[in-house]
Amino acid sequence: MNRTYYITTPIYYVNDVPHIGHAYTTLAADVLARYKKMRGYDVFFLTGSDEHGQKVEKAANSAGETPLELADRVVKRFQSLWERLDIDYTDFIRTTQERHKKGVSHLFTKVMEKGDIYLGEYEDWYCTPCEAFWTETQLMDGKCPDCNRPVDKLKEESYFFRMSKYQDQLLAHIEANPDFIQPKSRRNEIISFVKEGLRDLSVSRTSFTWGIPVPGNDKHVIYVWFDALTNYITALGYPDEAGNFGTYWPVDVHLIGKDILRFHAVYWPTFLMAAELPLPRKVFAHGWWTVEGQKMSKSLQNVVEPNMLIEKYGVDAVRYFLLREVPFGLDGDFSHTALVHRINSDLANDLGNLLSRSTAMTSKYFGGVVPEPAALQEIDEAYRAKTVEMVHQVDGLMDEQAFSKALQCIWEVISAGNKYIDETAPWTLAKDPDKKDRLATVMYCLLESQRIVNTLLSAFMPKTAVKALSCLGWTSPANDTALAWGLLAPGTVIAKAEPLFPRIEEKPE
Ligand code: MSP
Repeated sequence: MNRTYYITTPIYYVNDVPHIGHAYTTLAADVLARYKKMRGYDVFFLTGSDEHGQKVEKAANSAGETPLELADRVVKRFQSLWERLDIDYTDFIRTTQERHKKGVSHLFTKVMEKGDIYLGEYEDWYCTPCEAFWTETQLMDGKCPDCNRPVDKLKEESYFFRMSKYQDQLLAHIEANPDFIQPKSRRNEIISFVKEGLRDLSVSRTSFTWGIPVPGNDKHVIYVWFDALTNYITALGYPDEAGNFGTYWPVDVHLIGKDILRFHAVYWPTFLMAAELPLPRKVFAHGWWTVEGQKMSKSLQNVVEPNMLIEKYGVDAVRYFLLREVPFGLDGDFSHTALVHRINSDLANDLGNLLSRSTAMTSKYFGGVVPEPAALQEIDEAYRAKTVEMVHQVDGLMDEQAFSKALQCIWEVISAGNKYIDETAPWTLAKDPDKKDRLATVMYCLLESQRIVNTLLSAFMPKTAVKALSCLGWTSPANDTALAWGLLAPGTVIAKAEPLFPRIEEKPE
């Protein structure tokens, strides 16, 4: 039986069209899922859409359609973007699906029967765009502390979840499990938040109807976050606790943006505690992208549309850039200049050039056939050892969701390859027939190191890696065993590589 690995993205609201912020979380999840698959895990990768709530109801009203019509229309935009971005998810859950509604009702009933959901009255400040309630003291200058927009005072009958009851248990869990909330700075924020005291949470609404009815009282719909968070288990077939739920839960990592950490690191675990279900192993909150130094927003008309980027630069360049440019967990800035720079320097110069140089020399000196290496000398051994060490390091970094560092580590080996060519000077060796063995060894090391590099890169840039590997005559699947040194068989026919990434000379906009 393979070890399992369950990874999720947030489910995206259907009242917005996808932009690079959404693409970022999904891409990171895809890279990790592909990587874990390659390392032999049985991976379940979930994404989906969050289709209930007042915002969707309002957006549908103003577009003159039903909420479900709107959801059906927008969800296709997400799904087609995921296809273009080569996102290889296992399942896509929509919160309007029966399987989801059934699971949410079950969870709600279970927690209510336990006495942890009760009927009360609610009065507080509500931010409609954020779908969040705030206490008087949480407001910033009387406005929503998250988005700085005006809030309304709301009083309504509401069901409450006894979140306060779980405060100590949650704190103890966070403290006993340093990996539970990552990165560390975010973990500290949550610890302070919980220490300030957890209030009971309103988990139903009567002010709109687009949602899952409260079991037994359909005047109320279930609060969107109770509904949305539960997707992570309904997609596994919950309440059926056998099947996928039994196999994959608890989740290995929920990848999310920093703005929705509290929901994932406080609300969700306490719901699960109440339901007596195991908690997620890790919640990782990444940072936010600004665009050319500014917050991305519709009103500034600076929303970066991933389809446009893919058309202009190609899918793998976009995948590479987003994960390489900014350490996962920190905020970062998107600019065309930075993207073009990465393409020209990392992809065209370093990665692409190394492959072109090595395959061109193999064609020239060995008729396009992988030569038989002789004994490795010190310089070859150092290059081999660096390649082998990279495989080990990348594995640790991927477990920490340190995608940018993992790519840096791979690029050190690519740079070492270019340096190795300069230092061994194959063109000089080629002039001396007595140095044929030496030349063969150098060529072999170059090709073999790149076979391993491109195998690792298949998680990040699937199309490019397949192209590069097929130039190297390697058509076996990229898997765990393919990462060992020495598998490229002498006698294998290779192809002279076309540039993987042509340089972009034009001035970026
Ligand atoms: N529907 C909720 C999530 C429910 S999960 C049970 C939601 N949806 S969202 O569509 O608004 O946002 C989804 C994700 O996109 C969040 O993780 C958010 O952080 C991310 N991003 C939105 N804009 C972003 C940037 N500008 N930069 C990086 N990520 C951003 O929240």
